[in-house]
Amino acid sequence: MTQDPRESGVRELPTEEDLTRAGLRLAVEGAVARITISRPERRNAMTGRTWTTMAHIGQTLPSDVRIVVIAGEGDIFSAGIDLNMFTPQGVDGERSIVAGLAEGKTDAAELDAYIAGLQEGFLWLRRPDLVTIAAVRGHAIGAGFQLALSCDLRILAEDAKFCMKEPALGLVPDLTGTKPLVDIVGVHRATEICLTARKVGAEESRELGLATLVVGVDELDGAVDDAIAGLLAVDPDAAVATKALLQQAVGNTLEEQCAAERKAQAGRLTALVESMVPKG
Ligand code: CAA
Repeated sequence: MTQDPRESGVRELPTEEDLTRAGLRLAVEGAVARITISRPERRNAMTGRTWTTMAHIGQTLPSDVRIVVIAGEGDIFSAGIDLNMFTPQGVDGERSIVAGLAEGKTDAAELDAYIAGLQEGFLWLRRPDLVTIAAVRGHAIGAGFQLALSCDLRILAEDAKFCMKEPALGLVPDLTGTKPLVDIVGVHRATEICLTARKVGAEESRELGLATLVVGVDELDGAVDDAIAGLLAVDPDAAVATKALLQQAVGNTLEEQCAAERKAQAGRLTALVESMVPKG
């Protein structure tokens, strides 16, 4: 499960140097944090360091941040994992995924822990105290698609293209994307999308429910700003309680969900009444 940021022990946001090495930019302004995947020379391909740094961002965001927007630099969201991660040399001195295995130095438990650490970079985007938005231009391949799937909303430019490339490379999607994909499109369509590794364009993404909204390329920034304004207009505590409630609904029976609704509403009503009582 996602690590509780208050228990992580990490207090400071990543430094500019950390962010640059991870291929990320970060801008925090009031209630809105904007993360940009920024390795344009590699078509915004990401490395393990990108995801551990994203986890670090999640652990250290100021508590008044309510919205996180993730976008790619330029005309592409992300080309997915940096394929050099699968070479013995790795990327810029960063650990290669295959080198340890090839040399017999990495055992199953170590590999499991390593991948779990990478998954943390995606898991925190589900936190109920945040609403996360993927603003997608161009390709979102493999890990890029899974990153977009980790967000609550996906606002797509009409040139956006999703692709779950992993099976074509002899791998499986392992960066937390299979569950939201199946939740959104169902096992049948998810199987077809993954096992053909085909590109799913913006219009089809809208039809399948993968896109919250599709807009013209020049309208993407404005559409994201409009979404942010709408989200910030809602009571923050009610937003947290409602997202938590909706997340439970997928795994709950109707009876369990009704009970969860009653409990959440009791909390909200109590808070509203308390806010009406004159202080002192
Ligand atoms: N890793 C490393 N380098 C990459 C890269 C990647 N994923 N994607 C692109 N690049 C590099 C290219 O090698 C090229 O470098 P040079 O200029 O040094 O030759 C540069 O970025 C520009 O790439 P292209 O010329 O190919 O750019 P394009 O605009 O014509 O095509 C693209 C863009 C469709 C994204 C294409 O580059 C592509 O298909 N990239 C590979 C995508 C891929 O297979 N990603 C891995 C998916 S699997 C995953 O993410 C998760 C997992 O765990 C396995």
